[in-house]
Amino acid sequence: MPNDQSSERGNWGSKVAFIFAASGSAIGLGSIWRFPLFVGLNGGAAFVFTYLVAVFFIGFTVMLAELTIGRHTQKSPVPAFKQIKPGTPWVLVGYMGVICGVFILSYYSVIAGWAAGYFYKTITGAFPSQISWEDSASLFAQFAADPLQVLICLAAIIALTTYVISKGVKSGIERWSKILMPVLFVLIIILAARALTLPGAKNGLLFYLKPDFSDFSPTILFFAVGQAFFSLSLGMGTMMTYGSYIPKRENLVSSAAWVCFSTVLIAILAGIIIFPTLFDTLQLTPEQFKQEFEVDTGLMFQVFPIIISKMPGGHIFGILFFALLLIAALTSTISMLEVPTAYLVDERRWSRRKASLAIGIMSFVLGVPSALSAGGVSFLTQFNYMRKMDLLFGNILLAVGGLFICLFLAYAWKIRNALDEISLGCKTFRLRPVWVFNVRFLAPLAVILILIFIRVLTG
Ligand code: TRP
Repeated sequence: MPNDQSSERGNWGSKVAFIFAASGSAIGLGSIWRFPLFVGLNGGAAFVFTYLVAVFFIGFTVMLAELTIGRHTQKSPVPAFKQIKPGTPWVLVGYMGVICGVFILSYYSVIAGWAAGYFYKTITGAFPSQISWEDSASLFAQFAADPLQVLICLAAIIALTTYVISKGVKSGIERWSKILMPVLFVLIIILAARALTLPGAKNGLLFYLKPDFSDFSPTILFFAVGQAFFSLSLGMGTMMTYGSYIPKRENLVSSAAWVCFSTVLIAILAGIIIFPTLFDTLQLTPEQFKQEFEVDTGLMFQVFPIIISKMPGGHIFGILFFALLLIAALTSTISMLEVPTAYLVDERRWSRRKASLAIGIMSFVLGVPSALSAGGVSFLTQFNYMRKMDLLFGNILLAVGGLFICLFLAYAWKIRNALDEISLGCKTFRLRPVWVFNVRFLAPLAVILILIFIRVLTG
């Protein structure tokens, strides 16, 4: 956030500064680790296609809704709901966001910790320059199952995140990420180009981009909507907080569109790296893959060392890649910690230091079982603890949050007021009727239906 520590509320210097900061929150492990994982788990192209539709119709809708509420109130979520509808239960949506923030941070930091571990491993040369699928998979399994290593990595990520938030140097990090994120983007393009030239790339691309209509199902829709919320940092008030710093003259519509576009672009490219590489290594057809291959939570970590080993200068390239991935993950963890911290600072008058430290410690404690559920402790592994946390907080509760944000905007605050706020910086809002329809009906109904369906499906 700009001017974190001054009593005056700062503004982003320009629209570009905002887009970089919000994309910094959005782009992270959600696009590079979680998206390919769910593509692998949910039948490939059918999921990719459904995700794109979900981002367009629901993600963009909720993004603009959050930015509008945030900029109108100039507040973090809990006081924002209180300001627009004082004394009503709507404020509970804000509280839910605070809770989601702590829980998502807890397991997200475990995965960010894996990225930190892999950064360290590439530096110390743990990956041979010719690495087979079996070696890469067993290196990951050993690493993720080592309680000491994963806990140290988890602690390191949370400590760094807490440090940044407590010092209010978030804007400094964001200034850095303005330079570093484009570098990550270039590296990803280069890796994607390399993956596409592998001899077995074609089958991977078929799996990834050619939808098979028999694969579509309500389950896919459920996970695609969840992924849209997760990857765009929606449903818990993160984007509301970011919106509160946008100057009135800026265009919220095109800002929202840019953040959606850049996030989706990175996710699509991550898949273009992972699936061709995986299919080339395993020599499988899409059908064989769907029947025989068991997709693991560590998919990204199993595949990236292989493609990196196929790059000229792979060692240096790998160090650079994991360093940037780590920074992308940190700009996301920072944005997660910001919501609960802002609540304690704004509403409970805690100091920034005390608030961020308390939330940091809490998410570390909550993260321990997740960290130990990838082989570290057998009952947590069997229970699939981390995936269950992600299902509850990363899919279900973010979608519920998004649902209530739409309902709040459309029926409590009223569309008219939101449109007034949007029109301050956007004179020609061409998608206006579509957005209004989506906030009022489509997004809420879609989320409600999906949640009912999943209840029916899971019995
Ligand atoms: N969007 C980020 C990613 O994909 C993760 C994230 C940051 C997030 N803040 C969030 C997810 C708030 C949900 C809610 O890596």
